[in-house]
Amino acid sequence: MNFQKVSVVYFSGTGGTKRVADAFVAALKQRLLEVMALPIDCSSQCHHEDNEQARFEASDAMILVYAVHAFDAPQPVYRWIEGVSGNGRHTAVISVSGGGDVWPNTGCRQRLIASLTEKGFVVDYEKMMVMPCNWVVPVNDDMAMHLIQALPGKVDKIVGKFLAGEKRHCLQQLSWLRRKISEQEKIGARSFAQKMTIDEKCSGCGWCADYCPVNNIRLDEERQIPLFSDDCVMCFRCIYGCPRKAIHSEDFQVLKVGFNLKGVETRMAGKELKPVTECCKGIAWSGVRRYLDDSDGY
Ligand SMILES: Cc1cc2nc3c(=O)[nH]c(=O)nc-3n(C[C@H](O)[C@H](O)[C@H](O)COP(=O)(O)O)c2cc1C
Repeated sequence: MNFQKVSVVYFSGTGGTKRVADAFVAALKQRLLEVMALPIDCSSQCHHEDNEQARFEASDAMILVYAVHAFDAPQPVYRWIEGVSGNGRHTAVISVSGGGDVWPNTGCRQRLIASLTEKGFVVDYEKMMVMPCNWVVPVNDDMAMHLIQALPGKVDKIVGKFLAGEKRHCLQQLSWLRRKISEQEKIGARSFAQKMTIDEKCSGCGWCADYCPVNNIRLDEERQIPLFSDDCVMCFRCIYGCPRKAIHSEDFQVLKVGFNLKGVETRMAGKELKPVTECCKGIAWSGVRRYLDDSDGY
């Protein structure tokens, strides 16, 4: 394919997907293409380039990257698609999960691809990437590092195939149950933040309000503590990112140990990694093992 300008559009809650998007940007730039990174993020701290809409419209291909939320794409991705036109733009859809290509994750691109197709995008390529899980089950540092280290090589291969015009479509397994869970998650997510608690460590710094990707948080002017509206998308950025760890949720989906990729890299600097067979044991991580040994394919 003779693409000149490629946009990399992404939604990342806690940074794992941003790293994947950054790797795509780097791999495309290495091939001397004009690249625009476009975060789906309306927080005041998120950098947006000038004339973004016009530059997106001028791009002849798109790589859409998103964090998997409850076997589907997060709501902001659907909202973004509603506001744009595909105009026949060639597209790769990259989902980023914690568990890899195992059921029910295997249906996590189906509804999204249908929405893109309806808006005139031509989806040529789809693939599941895996990054350290920020949801329900924490990963150990060795597994996290294997995933971080595997990223550039995998992205490079995908970019090569997408640019060469290779098609990759997966058999998506969209069961009734999976769809119901995804729908319920989106409804439940909206009020999720209302059940969060703030402890006395909160200094009123406003980090959470500044970084919430959907502007769902503001500071109470008198007490200088965060107040949450009803548009949470359950990305957990405020909980894991709060500089004082003052935001809490009792929900089982939130990792008690927190989530911090830089922390993993610091702890693992210079250490030899345990082999994948040792640090990725058990049925829960079978998708991660298949991803790391490349048996889930390109
Ligand atoms: C609310 C929520 C739901 C999630 N659902 C899934 C899921 O269904 N399957 C999965 O493998 N990972 C799931 N994850 C894990 C994320 O997809 C994964 O950790 C991803 O790398 C997070 O990207 P981010 O750091 O850019 O937010 C979920 C995470 C969150 C916060």
